Amino acid sequence: MSIKKLLLLPFYLLTVFTWSKSFRNNPVIGNYTLNLLGLHVFRVVLSHLLFNFRLCLLSPLVSHADRDSYRRNGFILKENFLAPDEFQALKSELLNYRGPIREIQEGNTLTQRVFLTRERLSHLPMCLRFTENPALLKPVRYASSKNRIPFFHIENLKHGVLGHNGDDPQKHMHTDTFHPCMKAWLFIDEVTRQNGPFTYVPGSHKLTWQRIQWEYAQSLAACRNKNAHDSQRYWDGSFRVSSDELREFGYPEPKAMIVPANTLLIGNVHGFHRRGDAEANTSRMTLWMQARDNPFNPLFTPFPRLSAGAFEYVWSIYLRKRDVKMQGEGKLATVESTFDAKPEPPPK
Ligand SMILES: [Fe+2]
Repeated sequence: MSIKKLLLLPFYLLTVFTWSKSFRNNPVIGNYTLNLLGLHVFRVVLSHLLFNFRLCLLSPLVSHADRDSYRRNGFILKENFLAPDEFQALKSELLNYRGPIREIQEGNTLTQRVFLTRERLSHLPMCLRFTENPALLKPVRYASSKNRIPFFHIENLKHGVLGHNGDDPQKHMHTDTFHPCMKAWLFIDEVTRQNGPFTYVPGSHKLTWQRIQWEYAQSLAACRNKNAHDSQRYWDGSFRVSSDELREFGYPEPKAMIVPANTLLIGNVHGFHRRGDAEANTSRMTLWMQARDNPFNPLFTPFPRLSAGAFEYVWSIYLRKRDVKMQGEGKLATVESTFDAKPEPPPK
């Protein structure tokens, strides 16, 4: 262990009780002996117990049908979410967006994102209206289990546009992290088999004995392989799962979310999921939402608007720092552009 990591040991010990998940960067989380003794499994089990406890407390926010779908399948799906004229106005605002777009290359997929801060929303009235819609906020606050108003992004995925066949790691079936957490999407484009439908294994968010055993084995593999930058993603705790393993779990077939535009999907991304395979030169746009929070805090926020402002402030600082690092590594570019602009050809 480096001197720096040794000095930071008290900090790393504390982060065991946060959402921290990197087996490579955190010498406590990535410690083989501690995981042999069950550290990872302890974090998985405790975070699930607390998640379900908070979900129970927040259950008045949603209908019985939504609650049942989220608990049983791991997701809630709502077609025709917005009124048709409201949806068209929102779509047109997004298509006419011009401004800074963060572009990340993942394999041969170009992911374009715009973080919708309060400041940016003040120039996008239909997006602002969407972020304040009670029919949206109630189920996402529930699904976060923290009463959290999520971060909102415009996200546009462009498949196979980068002139090579690089492997997109988001297209491997995986779990985002060790604890239950929520992501949601309003699909702006119709999702077809061609443009890479989000694919989810129903019921794979549940913590069964078999899943606990799998998590235990994965944690030990992660400790052994944390420095290998391979496709299993052991270094960052987003474990990949093979088709054979999925069959052994006995899950139903993965469900590709082939849905019309104006469908809302709210999912627990501890469950296994992936970006679907796509044809080259296809794209799909969504309003993408994420609410990740400390899974070990048994309480939820009683002041969702106030905490949303605080989270935005902190996340903006973190993003600025991360962007500088990623730009230095050539993984990210921020362009002043529109979503329909052709991507720059890769350097020869
Ligand atoms: Fe994911």
